[in-house]
Amino acid sequence: MKATAEARANIALIKYWGRIDHELNLPVTSSLSLTVDKLVTRTTVVADPALKADELVLNGVEQGGAPLARVVRHLDRLRERAGSRERCRVVTENTFAASAGMASSASGFAALTVAGFEALGAKVDAREQSTFARLGSGSASRSIFGGFVEWHAGKTHEESYAEPVAPATHMDLHDVVVVLSEGEKKVGSAEGHGLADTSPLHGGRIARVPELLREVREGIRARDLERLGAAAEEDAILMHAVMMTSRPSLLYWNECTVRGLHAVREWREEGLKVYATIDAGPNLHLLCMGKDAREVARRAQEELRPTSIIENAPGEGARLVSRHLA
Ligand code: DP6
Repeated sequence: MKATAEARANIALIKYWGRIDHELNLPVTSSLSLTVDKLVTRTTVVADPALKADELVLNGVEQGGAPLARVVRHLDRLRERAGSRERCRVVTENTFAASAGMASSASGFAALTVAGFEALGAKVDAREQSTFARLGSGSASRSIFGGFVEWHAGKTHEESYAEPVAPATHMDLHDVVVVLSEGEKKVGSAEGHGLADTSPLHGGRIARVPELLREVREGIRARDLERLGAAAEEDAILMHAVMMTSRPSLLYWNECTVRGLHAVREWREEGLKVYATIDAGPNLHLLCMGKDAREVARRAQEELRPTSIIENAPGEGARLVSRHLA
C-alpha cells in the first residue's frame, strides 16, 4: 500500500520544554500551540514486502545515519501497532529549512504517522495518531490537529495526547516568522529537553505554566490577542531563561533576536498589537492579528534585516492526501 499525507508545523504559545519520560516523550507540562499554514511537510510511505530495509529520502536526498535511524524507530512503533512486518520507503519534502528552530520534526512526524499507519493498513483515530506522533517528536502530537491545540501532559502513553481547543477559523491569529538564521542549531531540542532539569529556574517555570495556560486558553476563547500574547511572550522568555541557565547553558538567541524583542516592545508602545515567541533557535515568531501581519512583516524587514520572512495564518491538521495499492 502507498499513502501520502500532509502536515503543518505548529508554533507553541505555551511551550513543551523538559520531560518526565525520555523514551515515551512525556512532557513535564501541558503545552498549547497554533498550527500554521505555510510550513508544510508532505510524506509518502510505500509499504513493500519486497524491501529488505526501510529507506528515507528527505528533500530529494537519500538519507542514512541518525535521520534514517529515527524514522526506522518510528516505523517500528507503527508496525507493532499495525501488526505488520513490511519495510517501507519514505519520501518526504519540506517547504522550509529544517533544524532552524522551525519545528520540522513536528510536521515531519505528524505526516509520517498518518501516512505510515495508512500504508501499513492500520485504522487509527486522531487521538491515537497524536500519541504515536508524540513518540516520534513531542511537538508532532499537536500537528495532528489544525488551529489551536492543547497537548495534555499525561502520565502514561495513552494519557499524553493533543486535542483541538478551537478550529483554525476561530481567530485570525498570524505567526510572522522572522528567519534570522537558517543554519543547523548546535544543540537540538531532543538533547535540550534532557538538560531542563539542570536549571534552577525550571521549577519556577513549571509552577507558573498552569496560570499561563489558562490565560492563553481564555485569550483564545475571547479572541483576545493581548491576553494570549502577553502569556505566550512571558512563557517564551521563561523557557529561554531555563535554557540559558541549564548546565551546559543553551543560548539560542543572537543579536538580532534581542534587537527584535526590543523592537516588539517599541511597536506595542506605538499601538501595534504584536507579541513575540521563540523556539529552540534564534528566529522570532511575531504573533499578531491577520489585519496587522503586513505591517508587522514590513517593520521586521526594515528593522531586523532577516534572511526571510514567512507570514503564517492558522493552518489545518494532518490529512491523508492519497492512498492506493503500490
Ligand atoms: C522549543 O518536539 O522538537 O519547540 O520531542 O525531542 O522531538 P522532541 O522535541 P521537540 O521540542 C519542541 C520544543 C520547542 C517548544 C514547543 O514546540 O513546544
